[in-house]
Amino acid sequence: MSNSASHSASQPRKILVTSALPYANGAIHLGHLLEYIQTDIWVRFQKSRGHQCHYVCADDAHGTAIMLRAEQEGITSEALIERVSRDHQTDFARFGVGFDNYHSTHSEENRQFSELIYTRLRDKGHIATRDIEQMYDPVKGLFLADRFIKGICPKCKADDQYGDNCEACGATYTPAELIDPVSAISGATPEVRSSTHYFFKLPDFADFMQGWINDGHVQPQIRNKLLEWFESGFNEWDISRDAPYFGFEIPDAPGKYFYVWLDAPIGYLASFQNLCEREGLDFDSYWQPESDAEIYHFIGKDIVYFHALFWPAMLHGAEFRTPTAVNCHGFVTVNGAKMSKSRGTFIKAATYAEYLNPEYLRYYFAAKLTAGVDDLDLNLEDFSARVNADLVGKVVNIASRCAGFVKKLGGGKLSAHCAEPELLARVIAAGDAIAEDYEAREFGRAMRRIMELADDANTYIAEAEPWVLAKQDGREQEVLDICSVGINLFRQLMVYLAPVVPTMASDAQAFLQLESLDWESRHEVLLNHDIAKFKPLMTRIDRDKIDAMIDASKEDLAEEKKMKESAKGPMTDDPIADEISFEDFSKVDLRIARIAKADYVEGADKLLKLTLDLGGEIRTVFSGIRSAYAPEALEGHLTVMVANLAPRKMRFGVSEGMVLASSNDAGIYLLEPHAGAEPGQRVT
Ligand code: 2FM
Ligand code: ZN
Repeated sequence: MSNSASHSASQPRKILVTSALPYANGAIHLGHLLEYIQTDIWVRFQKSRGHQCHYVCADDAHGTAIMLRAEQEGITSEALIERVSRDHQTDFARFGVGFDNYHSTHSEENRQFSELIYTRLRDKGHIATRDIEQMYDPVKGLFLADRFIKGICPKCKADDQYGDNCEACGATYTPAELIDPVSAISGATPEVRSSTHYFFKLPDFADFMQGWINDGHVQPQIRNKLLEWFESGFNEWDISRDAPYFGFEIPDAPGKYFYVWLDAPIGYLASFQNLCEREGLDFDSYWQPESDAEIYHFIGKDIVYFHALFWPAMLHGAEFRTPTAVNCHGFVTVNGAKMSKSRGTFIKAATYAEYLNPEYLRYYFAAKLTAGVDDLDLNLEDFSARVNADLVGKVVNIASRCAGFVKKLGGGKLSAHCAEPELLARVIAAGDAIAEDYEAREFGRAMRRIMELADDANTYIAEAEPWVLAKQDGREQEVLDICSVGINLFRQLMVYLAPVVPTMASDAQAFLQLESLDWESRHEVLLNHDIAKFKPLMTRIDRDKIDAMIDASKEDLAEEKKMKESAKGPMTDDPIADEISFEDFSKVDLRIARIAKADYVEGADKLLKLTLDLGGEIRTVFSGIRSAYAPEALEGHLTVMVANLAPRKMRFGVSEGMVLASSNDAGIYLLEPHAGAEPGQRVT
């Protein structure tokens, strides 16, 4: 198998790497980041070794969920996926995830490849059609996937259960068996309707798939799981959905669309093709059946069937080559439990990055990652202890202890000779074992080796005691020699850590005044070499910042709840609240306000910041109306605000009141008084 650790750095390899494509209807969170960070580290390592490695990804932009979400926000699906793509790319960039190309499955390249693969499969007889019966929402006019149907469990009679399984008793059933089913989208009673569906005849590829999963392309645990599934037999795969659907229409089937999971992995080809066009690469030399390139997909263990069975079968049937390996990882838990919105441990990438350095997380994930599929626990105590002890206490410490003496005694120039050639040679030689660990995705083992070397470096410096010698006359050269060894050791460590902490590495590179920190560059010992002034390369994790991040994540949840409430349907679906007295009502001070200014809020995709004039008094209010209004369209308009609402501290500032708006499926509507009303007037 070609993803073994036996590659030598001297033969450049052609490698294409992908991470799973995130859905275009939600924010990137720490669960996602494990995969992108794992992949990015592996890619950066390959590039450091001099290989031709391309890392591509895209947003997974199709499907009913995205269509409904856009509708709920009152915008087109295209506008939604555009906005989400920008947000995703901002998040990835903050975490140093360096894609060579980031594309979308809603792209021309993807349409072409989807049609090509489908027609090749069809022409070889691997597509079947037949009529199936499905629940249909007569109000929304669409067929309902099981998760969009709710009703009473036929077994335990629990209310409000989804169409395929009961969360109360664990029973599985078909939506037709639910008692009193309703559409979770409109609340209407679904009807059973029949329509023609298109199927990919997976059983045609049974022998091929069995061979493929036994041929070293997946980890042993995954292979065993797949074989179990294989033995229980599998069916043809339904690859079509009826209109309305946000996706690509099937070429010979008007009104039928490719199911999102058909064109999602094809998005890997589309994104790579897009890169090839931009950079003049030869697409076919990667994807033709006899290609000598390597192709790796990094994915979570929840989507292994799509990648390790359906996808190779589709590729093989359509005369493309299949992946070298599908590399699976486990899920992220936080403090030993599933990420939880109410505990504040469902942490979005943007929320994390507001409080903590992304490279802390990259290092922590690396320190705990193996090539296996076990879940990875982000224990927040251990996280700060490990990062502070390793990166700050061990690695940065070496440079900070030595740099001052080099500046003072060598004028910033390292010694002309190496005082500890054996120690340095040992640290350089250790690079081979570390490289094997990286190659095999045993990042935790690599980090342990690197930290052992850092311990050795610190021990050397501690025993040599340059700070003691520095106080003795005539020993300046000795001190410079020791500290020059220290700086050289630090350089070796940064070569080894660069795939994990690229920003810290590039700051270290500037400090060391080096052209490169590539793997091979470590062989050259720095003698008579000028270094720059030392600046702290990483600071300790502050526990308060972690607490603030957890609080902010709880706030994200509160905001989401409010959004969901404001996006609820018309009044008929939303029962009138309990009666209150006139006295209760009169406690609410409603005032006419003029919107003096409206601005976007960086990092908040739902909020606008409104500056309100209450007839002289100025208030700042954050309001979740961004999907409905461009800021400039609001300026100068009058509206109604709750003027005596207790100020609320939000992540972006304090909100001093609330403006009144109504909403339905189509949008949000800010209240505006008739002409003649004046800012500051009380509304009664
Ligand atoms: O599970 C998911 O989040 C999917 N959007 C992954 C798609 S990966 C590939 F097939 F596109
Ligand atoms: Zn039940």
